[in-house]
Amino acid sequence: SNLPKLFTPIKIKDMDLKNRIVVSPMCQYSSVDGLFNEWHLVHYGTLARSGAALIVLEATAVVPEGRITYGDSGLWNDSQIEPMKRVIDFCKLFNCKIALQLAHSGRKGSTNPIYIEGAIRGAPAIGVGREYDIYGPSEVQWGMESKKPHELSLDDIKCIINAFKDTTIRAIKAGVDMIEIHGAHGYLINSFLSSTSNIRTDQYGGIFENRIRFLTDIITAVKTVWPKEKPLSVRLSCEEWVENGWNIEETINLVKVIRDMGVDLVDCSSGGNSCCQNIPNTPMFQIPLSETIKKECIGQKTMAVGGVTDGKTAEDILQNLQADLICVARQFLKDPFWPQRAADELGIHIDPVLQYSLAHRHKKTGI
Ligand code: FNR
Repeated sequence: SNLPKLFTPIKIKDMDLKNRIVVSPMCQYSSVDGLFNEWHLVHYGTLARSGAALIVLEATAVVPEGRITYGDSGLWNDSQIEPMKRVIDFCKLFNCKIALQLAHSGRKGSTNPIYIEGAIRGAPAIGVGREYDIYGPSEVQWGMESKKPHELSLDDIKCIINAFKDTTIRAIKAGVDMIEIHGAHGYLINSFLSSTSNIRTDQYGGIFENRIRFLTDIITAVKTVWPKEKPLSVRLSCEEWVENGWNIEETINLVKVIRDMGVDLVDCSSGGNSCCQNIPNTPMFQIPLSETIKKECIGQKTMAVGGVTDGKTAEDILQNLQADLICVARQFLKDPFWPQRAADELGIHIDPVLQYSLAHRHKKTGI
C-alpha cells in the first residue's frame, strides 16, 4: 500500500497503536500534592485529539521525594488515582493509548519549576513543602548549585523498588496501557547506571552488572504486577556525553539484558546525568542512538526522540529502520495538531479527530 509508515498501525503486546506518532513525556509542573487537575485534562485531552497514537504522560513520582519539583505529578498514594483516571478516560475516547512514565528524580529533586522567575536550573527550591531531602546512589551532587544527595541504604533501595511496584498497581487502576520506566536524564535510575554518579562499593555499584542492578530489580518488581500481555517501556540516556561517562556500548549491553527480561520498547534519549555534558551540535543527534540499539540488539523495538518537527523526517527515520516509533515533545507544544500536518506533508488524509467523528459521543456526552 501507499500508506506512509508513520501512519501504519503497529501492535505492541496487546496495545494497538493507530500510527507511529507518540507524544513524548513532558513534565507540566502543574500539580499540587502530585494530583492531576483541570490543566492536565485540557493539555492531554487536546493531545489525545491530535491524532497521535500514544501519549506518554509526564514523569510521575513513585514517592514524594522523587519529584523533580514540588509541582510534579505523583502516584504514590491512592487519592492520586481518580484524578489521573479522569484524564485517561477522556483521552481514550479518541482511540489514543496512554502510557505513564514512572520516575524518581534522585539527586535532581527538590528544584524550582522552570517558570519560577530567576530560578537557576538545578538550584534547590526554597519553602515549606517545596524543598525536601534528596537521595542518590552516592553523595555526589549533580552540579555546583545542587543540593547534596544522601546515599541510599540497602533498605532505602528496597523501599524505592517496592514503590515502583506499588505505583504500577495504581497505574493499572488508573487505566494506563503501557508503563514507561524513566531511566534517563540523570534521575535516580540513570545515576545508578553511570560510574560518574554511582561510586558505591556494594552490589549496586562498581562493575557494570552491579550498576544496572537497580534498574533490573525495578523491572523485575514491576513485572510481578504488570500484566504480561501489556507493554513495558524503558527510557534511557544512551549517551552521557562526558568522558568516562555512561555510553552507547554500555547501553547496548544493558538493552540486551532488559530485552531478554521482556522489555518491549526502549525509548532512546540521552544526556542529563552531568552538568558538564557536551551535547552534539546538531538537532537530530539522538536519532542514531535509536538506530544503533535497533541494529545491535536484534528484536528490540525502539522509539527515537529529539528534534523531529516534520512528517517527512519522521517517515525517513522509520523507512531507514532507525526506530519503530517516533516520539515528539516540543513540536506538540507549538503545534498540538501536528499529526494532521504531518499527514498533509506525506500526502494522505487522516480523519480530523473531532467530536463529531466519534461514534461513541452519544454515550459519553449525551449530545
Ligand atoms: C521534557 N522531557 C522529558 N523527558 C522525560 O523523559 N520525562 C519528562 O517528564 C520530560 N519533561 C519534559 C518537559 C518539557 C517541557 C520538555 C520540553 C521536555 C524531554 C522530552 O520528552 C524530549 O525527550 C525532548 O524534549 C526532546 O524531544 P523534542 O522536544 O526535540 O521533540
